[in-house]
Amino acid sequence: MRLTARLACSGEMQQPGGQLAPEDPCRTNNLRMDWAASFYDRQGSWTGLYVGDPDDYYQAQAARIARLAPSARTVLELAAGGGQAAAAAADQGHLVTAIELVDRAARNAERLAETRPDLTIIQADMYEVDLGGNRFDAVVYWDGFGLGSDADQIVLLKRITSWLQADGRLLLDAYTPWYWAAAAGQESVYGRAHSRYDFDARGCRMLDRWWHEDSGEDEAVEQSLRCYSPADLALLAGAAGLEVLAVEPGGAVDYDAGTYEPEVPLRSAMSYAAALAPAEH
Ligand SMILES: C[S@@+](CC[C@H](N)C(=O)[O-])C[C@H]1O[C@@H](n2cnc3c(N)ncnc32)[C@H](O)[C@@H]1O
Repeated sequence: MRLTARLACSGEMQQPGGQLAPEDPCRTNNLRMDWAASFYDRQGSWTGLYVGDPDDYYQAQAARIARLAPSARTVLELAAGGGQAAAAAADQGHLVTAIELVDRAARNAERLAETRPDLTIIQADMYEVDLGGNRFDAVVYWDGFGLGSDADQIVLLKRITSWLQADGRLLLDAYTPWYWAAAAGQESVYGRAHSRYDFDARGCRMLDRWWHEDSGEDEAVEQSLRCYSPADLALLAGAAGLEVLAVEPGGAVDYDAGTYEPEVPLRSAMSYAAALAPAEH
């Protein structure tokens, strides 16, 4: 999503096709999560997305912590990519621990941490990492929630609950079904890498397929992310003992104009930031 926004902002977005892929209601799409390491490694190597410093986009991403979890000082960031948002959060006064799976991205995050004593990087799988009983004022998960099945999200949400202080907040970006259903068929080119969106309407998942010109589409990698309306996220969260407290709409790309609007109404947003807390019994 970040890349779609960046392509549109920079004018680098090219749309060679735009034709809609035929819908297959029986398509099951990859509910496993074992594609994640190779997908994000290759996407990162082709685009440079997870290498760099915290620019304005990441500063704005991190600034949501002060709005949605105003009393949070200690922050755990999951799936932190190149650590740019985590570094921005540290620059904004938070004490941040960031977890990231992929080498290339974790190395960039470690570089950013070298000059930031308030930023610690753990290269690990968030489904397996042992945080030794540490608890945080906020756990954040920007751009990437929805790997695997609903049952996988519930497992992760329960793990997150165990990492939160009693009055802690979980902040996450959820993808909206309406935006990604409409984006199916959109193609983009980034350098010599190509991508195409699709949508699994039955499973309510955005599909994002990438390939490089050298190897061709036969060697494509694909991410598959579950999309949740706020009402569906509330049901999912309830199953993990959490409740949704607030929702802040994100932005949207206008594919015809090739532009990105960072704040749009929820009904047309690519995603929204949700603030969750342990449900009161
Ligand atoms: C769409 S990227 C977003 C990165 C970052 N949050 C951002 O906004 O720039 C998703 C990230 O999740 C990471 N990831 C995927 N599965 C993971 C796991 N099981 N544990 C930790 N990180 C994971 C990927 O390596 C990738 O860096």
